Amino acid sequence: MSQYRILVVEDDIELRSTLFEALEQGGFDVLQAEDGIEALDKIRTNQIDLALLDVNMPQMNGLDCLTEIKNYDPSIIVIIMTAYSAIEDAVRAIKAGAYNYLAKPIKHQAVVEMVQRAVDAQAMIRTMAYSAPIVTLENGEFVGHSGEMKKIFNIIYKLAKVDTSVLIRGDSGTGKELVARALHYNSSRKDEKLIPINCSAISETLFESELFGHERGAFTGADQRQIGRFQYAEGGTLFLDEIGDLSPSMQVKLLRVLQERKFTPVGSSREIEMNVRIIAATNRNLEEMIQKGTFREDLFYRLNVIPIYLPPLKERKDDIENLVNYFIRRFAQKHKKSIFGITVQAMEKLSAHHWPGNIRELENTIEHAFVIESGDKLSAKSLPAHFNAFKLGNNLNSAAPIIDSSSAPSVEDADLLDYNRFKEEFEREFIIRALKTFKGRINQTALHAKIPKKTLLRKLEKYSIKAEDFRL
Ligand SMILES: Nc1ncnc2c1ncn2[C@@H]1O[C@H](COP(=O)(O)OP(=O)(O)OP(=O)(O)O)[C@@H](O)[C@H]1O
Ligand SMILES: [Mg+2]
Repeated sequence: MSQYRILVVEDDIELRSTLFEALEQGGFDVLQAEDGIEALDKIRTNQIDLALLDVNMPQMNGLDCLTEIKNYDPSIIVIIMTAYSAIEDAVRAIKAGAYNYLAKPIKHQAVVEMVQRAVDAQAMIRTMAYSAPIVTLENGEFVGHSGEMKKIFNIIYKLAKVDTSVLIRGDSGTGKELVARALHYNSSRKDEKLIPINCSAISETLFESELFGHERGAFTGADQRQIGRFQYAEGGTLFLDEIGDLSPSMQVKLLRVLQERKFTPVGSSREIEMNVRIIAATNRNLEEMIQKGTFREDLFYRLNVIPIYLPPLKERKDDIENLVNYFIRRFAQKHKKSIFGITVQAMEKLSAHHWPGNIRELENTIEHAFVIESGDKLSAKSLPAHFNAFKLGNNLNSAAPIIDSSSAPSVEDADLLDYNRFKEEFEREFIIRALKTFKGRINQTALHAKIPKKTLLRKLEKYSIKAEDFRL
């Protein structure tokens, strides 16, 4: 196999030369650049497989350089090097398409290993026969016409052909589980089982027996031999959902199985080999958890062979209309109602919303409207109350006279002039803004926004707002 070409971009000459040497000894062909501008120059004139980028550099910093590299050729792998204290940079970089990050001070061994893992994974994807990406599910559709989603479909399609572990990241409701299913049902394992495990729902004491099974009499209450999820999934895929919620001791046990590819049922002396593909997902900030010591770095690397990041719905506005139409078709079948479309006004309201609960919130919103709607198109007044309140900025505050004969209020608008709805909408938006400002911390939000904590909790419940959604 030909040698991989790595570009080390780092302004600190000492670190640059040590990285250069370590990678060269690791068998790579290495080039160097001292800032982002020089890096882009070298990338345009040499075939680079992977760039190792420092963040703080004169001229052009690493994050801007990352964006430029991904624009030029998205298949170049980028690994970011950040200061230990600047974990936000790492998170931003991953979202912008970086493969992974290394925290300084950097250990030679870790760099060489990560680079090797990255190029191996990339090589597997590259050597696969290329044909048009078709993402199918066992039922239902995977909607996505935005550039963002097309990129993801491409990755899913390529990954479906290899057995590597995949880590799916994204806020709540962005479709992580759907991606896991798409990966499984497009893979050669599709005739075998896809077994999901919700890591946040599994108790510490039952973890081992749930995953690995147990022999009869292995512990009090184990009156029958039982096989675990790993064995159920044999030949198929194990989907470890909410992986960020595993306790440290469960993390160790899981890591051991992933490393050794075999496990021992509780109370048994027989080791069982496993052939299971692992897909994990989380909406937690694992980088921050690693820094705090609550998530094991070695487990993270083991799972994160290929990262997939699902952007929030508000960043793929192009998809909203397609998703709305898809859900209308689906709910028309489910509720046996003859609703064929949506009014322009209702669609405008949906497009303008910021969707903190992402696609799940959109799906619930459409279903809610479906139940209420009596016409053959979804209209604005069937949407939940907060979509229909008048916005201060557009209406009451505007300089235009309220009654303007040139734009008489429509019947739909007149229905919506409702004091309570307006009050609720305002309250809801205020709480969301406050939660965003204080990153979902209840105590801080209550304190600074001057809402008694009890009231705040009651309102969150009332408007189905999840404080955790604002944590990242
Ligand atoms: N692109 C899409 N096309 C069609 N339906 C979608 C799409 N993305 C998500 N959905 C639907 O939205 C809902 C939420 O998706 P999913 O459960 O996969 O999200 P999630 O990221 O796992 O959320 P959580 O973090 O809360 O578990 C599901 O009903 C799913 O079918
Ligand atoms: Mg999920």
